[in-house]
Amino acid sequence: MAETAGPVITIDGPSGVGKSTISRRVAAHYGFTYLDTGAMYRAVAWYLLKHAIDIEDVGAVESVLDQITITLLPTEREDDDVGVLVNGNNISDQIRTPDISMVASTVSALPAVRKKLTTLQRQIGSRGCVVAEGRDTGTVVFPGATNKFYLDASPEARTARRAQQLRERGKPVDEEQLLEMTIVRDRQDSERLIAPLIKADDAVLIDTTELDVDQVFEAIRKLID
Ligand code: DC
Repeated sequence: MAETAGPVITIDGPSGVGKSTISRRVAAHYGFTYLDTGAMYRAVAWYLLKHAIDIEDVGAVESVLDQITITLLPTEREDDDVGVLVNGNNISDQIRTPDISMVASTVSALPAVRKKLTTLQRQIGSRGCVVAEGRDTGTVVFPGATNKFYLDASPEARTARRAQQLRERGKPVDEEQLLEMTIVRDRQDSERLIAPLIKADDAVLIDTTELDVDQVFEAIRKLID
């Protein structure tokens, strides 16, 4: 991996564990760039769905990867999700749906997809002063990161948080279905052969089930400082 010009903090863990909220808070606190790697997998998923590419057809997926240019926009407010451009089109408000989550999880198992996005993530990270969040940022993307954290919580607690988030955005929620999707996604993300979701040996594990955002942030800040 290329050397980075400054500190890199990685925050990995399963979906709905609070990674985004915490990562944005940590990035804002230290004046670092927030790197949402999941948004990149979501962008690829969006493109494949938009162009009706069969995601089971590995050759078809690989053949269009070079046509996808992804740009992450800096967040203006700490509470905002990162903005995403695909080939110059702003798709930010289309990528946070349950469908895109599932497709992103499925296509993220493909070696060519991981290779493309890992390269892009390392390019961004090489500038240093980055808080990267995802599934493999501490294990694969930035194995030499300055500080690594792994957040975890029960599937039920994570589903309840995701449901709350969707409701706040005015989206319909079927919590039972959401729990099922969380479990399937956990399994896909942790059982894939390349860069599976796993705690890095040198990452600090924080169970967020019983903690609020302030408590998780404080625990991380203390360790970094
Ligand atoms: O963090 P998220 O829910 O936005 O991520 C969506 C999917 O992208 C996730 O289910 C698996 C994949 N992903 C990945 O494989 N590696 C990452 N570093 C980040 C996300």
